[in-house]
Amino acid sequence: MTAPLKLGIAGLGTVGAGLVRLLTDNREHLTIALGREIVVAAVSARDRSKPRDCDLSKAVWFDDPVALAMSPDIDIFVELIGGDEGPARVAVEAALKAGRHVVTANKALLARHGVALAGLAEESHCALDFEAAVAGGIPIIKTLRESLLGNRIERIYGILNGTCNFILTKMQEESRPFGEVLAEAQRLGYAEADPTFDIGGFDAAHKLAILTSLAFGTEVAFDEIHVEGIEKITQADITAADELGYRIKLLGVALRAPSGGIEARVHPTMVPKHSAIAEVSGVTNCVAVDGDRVGTLLLVGPGAGSEATASAVASDIIDIARGGGVPPFIVPVAHLKPHRRAEIGEHQGAYYVRLSVYDKPGAMAAIAKRMGDRGVSLESIVQRRTKSALPGASGGRGAPGAPATVTLITHETTEEAIRGALEAIESDGNVSEKPQMIRIEAM
Ligand code: HSE
Repeated sequence: MTAPLKLGIAGLGTVGAGLVRLLTDNREHLTIALGREIVVAAVSARDRSKPRDCDLSKAVWFDDPVALAMSPDIDIFVELIGGDEGPARVAVEAALKAGRHVVTANKALLARHGVALAGLAEESHCALDFEAAVAGGIPIIKTLRESLLGNRIERIYGILNGTCNFILTKMQEESRPFGEVLAEAQRLGYAEADPTFDIGGFDAAHKLAILTSLAFGTEVAFDEIHVEGIEKITQADITAADELGYRIKLLGVALRAPSGGIEARVHPTMVPKHSAIAEVSGVTNCVAVDGDRVGTLLLVGPGAGSEATASAVASDIIDIARGGGVPPFIVPVAHLKPHRRAEIGEHQGAYYVRLSVYDKPGAMAAIAKRMGDRGVSLESIVQRRTKSALPGASGGRGAPGAPATVTLITHETTEEAIRGALEAIESDGNVSEKPQMIRIEAM
């Protein structure tokens, strides 16, 4: 039997402890399957005295994760510290320079420094594996690196943030306001330490940056992603989407644009209510891949959590135990193409628009004209009376000119056209607030 594979794990939070448990519980099976034992040789964490639900009795303790990363007594440095700078980055760089393989769950680190780290890994002939960095337990990295390598990927998209999906699901199913459901997500421990990372779309964008590189063979380019969060989604949008046959999801989408660039975007998106992706609810994640040979695949599963994320980390360790050998971003760094951004104005698709329109003669006609002037064709228009205008409501039928809610669905158009139309509608003075616009993803 080959010599044991020795791990040094930095970061013993829920994922680190889950990994140690997984390796303990499945030791026999893994040893037989791999022909060698995997041992947790050394560990490092901020607080040594913290009780942890896993057996670390045989591991050497390091106060300094960087010293652990460079230790000659480990084969793989497992980075579970998190953060795109600071100890995580320093330790991963040190490990690679010292010739240690690296397994990490750190999406922010890879989104920011993935290409440079892959270069270091190449120079040292080391592995840099990160299955757990995207969509938790879903094996999407291996799917792209291995199973779909014979395909040209046209589009990759998915629900990449469990917190946002939890919030949008609860808002839809329980008609509860955004702030209240966010507080619940934080109580349940789903949200990042800074929840603006989740609700602002940045966590999903980190993951999309990694997926985009793997799918299209381009350099990782987090700053080239168009990012919008879910803060602006109201109960009115959730209800209108339902009535029109849609659900609202925060999607990360990357595709080959007709102009030849890569369109990469994270934003609230309407998806048909009866599509498979619409059924993905709560904290569950999913990733869909459109390949030219395989067609569309949809992988659904837990996007976070101790055991599921540990499962993904373990799969990278298992790959290395078997000999590894796949470059971090599939092709050698020198062959990664520059990321050429397709501007969001080029985006082509249908749109949902919600307007608060002053209820006066000619207002709708003016709105329709502004759309028509830019070649935007309307598929449906629904006008609802405001509450104060409902018969029997106090104030009778409401003051003439009080705003009514108008929801529109457009046929496919360009983002430039719809933005231009909405700017003109706003400046005409027929609406009482900024128009709401949500992209509809074709599937
Ligand atoms: N905060 C993240 C989420 C955790 O909600 O999906 C996993 O990255």
